[in-house]
Amino acid sequence: MQVLGLDIGGSGIKGALVDVVEGALVTPRYRIPTPSPATPEAMVETAALVVQHFGWRGPIGCGFPAVTKGGIVLTAANISPRWIGVNGQQMLEQATGSPVLLLNDADVAGIAEMRFGAGRGRNGLVLMLTVGTGIGTALFLDGKLVPNTELGHIEIRGRDAERRASDGTRERKGWSYATWAPRFDEYLQRISALLWPDLIIIGGGASRDFEKFARFLTIRVEVEPAQLRNEAGIIGAAIAAHEQVAL
Ligand code: BGC
Repeated sequence: MQVLGLDIGGSGIKGALVDVVEGALVTPRYRIPTPSPATPEAMVETAALVVQHFGWRGPIGCGFPAVTKGGIVLTAANISPRWIGVNGQQMLEQATGSPVLLLNDADVAGIAEMRFGAGRGRNGLVLMLTVGTGIGTALFLDGKLVPNTELGHIEIRGRDAERRASDGTRERKGWSYATWAPRFDEYLQRISALLWPDLIIIGGGASRDFEKFARFLTIRVEVEPAQLRNEAGIIGAAIAAHEQVAL
C-alpha cells in the first residue's frame, strides 16, 4: 500500500513514495529548496513539482511547518505571513489533482516515530521535538496525538525558544554543538518542568548529530534520537493520509 508523503519545510520541500504498512520509503527522497519568499503560490508550485517528479496520482499526505486545522494554515513562524488563513490543502489538491491531507510537520513526524520508531509501544506522555529551522513539537498521551502543540514558542530569557535553541540558529551563528547544547538543554529543562514527559524524542535535522550533543544534556528525562531521522515527516504524512486521521 503506497502513498506519497510530502514534507514542506522552511528550507526544503521533500517527497517520497511510502509503504504505509512497513513505514518505509520505497523511492529515494526528492528535494527542491523552499522558494524565497515562501509565499503560498510559490510553495504550492514547488510542492507540485515534487509530486510531478514521481508522476503520482493518488492520496498525498503533507506535513507543513505551521498550525493547520481542516487544511487551513493558522500560523507562520518560518514562512510568509501571507499563509495565514489560506487553505493550503485545497491549493495543493488543485495544483496536483490528487486528494491531500495537510497537517503540522512535527505532528506527522511524531505519528511515524510512535508507530515505527523511538516511540513504538510507549505509553505515558511522549514529546517529540523536530529540531530544524524551527522547533516543532508533537505530544502523545498513551499513543494518542494532542494536535498542534506549539511548544517551540515558549519564552526563554525573554525570547522565543526556537530563536535561541533551534538547529537553524546554531547553523546561522556557526556555533559548535558544545556552544549550542547548553541552550538546547535549558529548553529541555524548561519544557520538562512544564509537562513532565516520560520520554522526549529528538527528531529533525539535529537528530542525525544526536551523538555529538547528547553528552551535554543534563536533563533527567529519557531522551532518544528519532529512529526514522529526517524521513519521519514524509512517512508520518503518508500514514496519516492513508488513514485520513480525523483531527
Ligand atoms: C512552527 C511549528 C512547526 C515548527 C517546525 C515552528 O516555527 O510554529 O508549527 O511545527 O516550526 O517546523
